[in-house]
Amino acid sequence: VRRIGVMTSGGDSPGMNAAIRAVVRACAYYHTDCIGYYRGYQGMINGESIKLNARSVRNIVNQGGTILQSARSKAFLTEEGRARAAENLKKDEVDGMILIGGDGTFRGGQVFSKEHGISVIGVPGTIDNDIFGTNYAIGYDTALNTVVEAIDKIRDTASSHNRLFFVEVMGRDAGFIALNSGIGAGAEEILIPEENLGLERLLESLERSRRAGKTSSIVVVSEGDKIGKNVFELADYVKENLPNYDARVTVLGHIQRGGRPSCFDRVLASRLSVKAVELLLDGKKDLMVGMLNNEIESCSLDRALKGKHNINKELLKISEILST
Ligand code: F6P
Repeated sequence: VRRIGVMTSGGDSPGMNAAIRAVVRACAYYHTDCIGYYRGYQGMINGESIKLNARSVRNIVNQGGTILQSARSKAFLTEEGRARAAENLKKDEVDGMILIGGDGTFRGGQVFSKEHGISVIGVPGTIDNDIFGTNYAIGYDTALNTVVEAIDKIRDTASSHNRLFFVEVMGRDAGFIALNSGIGAGAEEILIPEENLGLERLLESLERSRRAGKTSSIVVVSEGDKIGKNVFELADYVKENLPNYDARVTVLGHIQRGGRPSCFDRVLASRLSVKAVELLLDGKKDLMVGMLNNEIESCSLDRALKGKHNINKELLKISEILST
């Protein structure tokens, strides 16, 4: 490729700036021009671009959010939108794009590459961690730490008041955040989309812990869980059926998407993004970079999109054992 473009798209995640920085610095190292596009596909359609050099990305390795901003572009779902984006890239002489985002971003990139012959490489960035082909997506580790820190605080007040807390965490269709933060923060129960515990078993489990002498408890609820009630209805249901419990709800929401990236996410973002640039310069396309067993690998975008990153079900057993 002659010139590399970079953008961040979909839900932002901590470490995206470290990824942008690594793309730009790797381009500089390999004497290749780099152009940034604002707000993901939307900026490509609107022709909102900026030339980036090694100094443009100073002091961002430690910043949350994304200096290129992000969006979920509806216009890019249309052929016309994608054609406009391709025209703008042509004007900018960009023939290779690095797409930092999640599955929606990669799906768009795959179609775009097929229709307009632009080489694309995906870099997985999403707090949900629901991407096949990588053990970790950028931002997930930071989000986990944010959640654990918040639940630690909730535990203090839960225990002072002998209360039961339902804490809703993000993860649209995936339970990675809930499962791992739940174990890390010592939750009583963890509700995830991949495994429906069922209302009866939840009540039984809570009743058992009360009888075992627990006076406060934390239940981590993934926003995508399949128990059939939202977190507020769930708390009401438990209060009605187990009147001994004084229940409260905390929805952590978008605080999970912000904040300074952890060292893990910075290093991950740096490694993945340098590799993405090298692959483009090597004439490769339609790939996603990922980290598997601590090695940086790549697989086709097609495979990344068709595969499913499964949670480790052993962790459910661990959680059950530890909440005895
Ligand atoms: O995909 C990341 C994520 O934060 C999900 O966990 C959540 O369901 C969704 O994005 C929220 O999207 P938005 O910020 O557009 O409301």
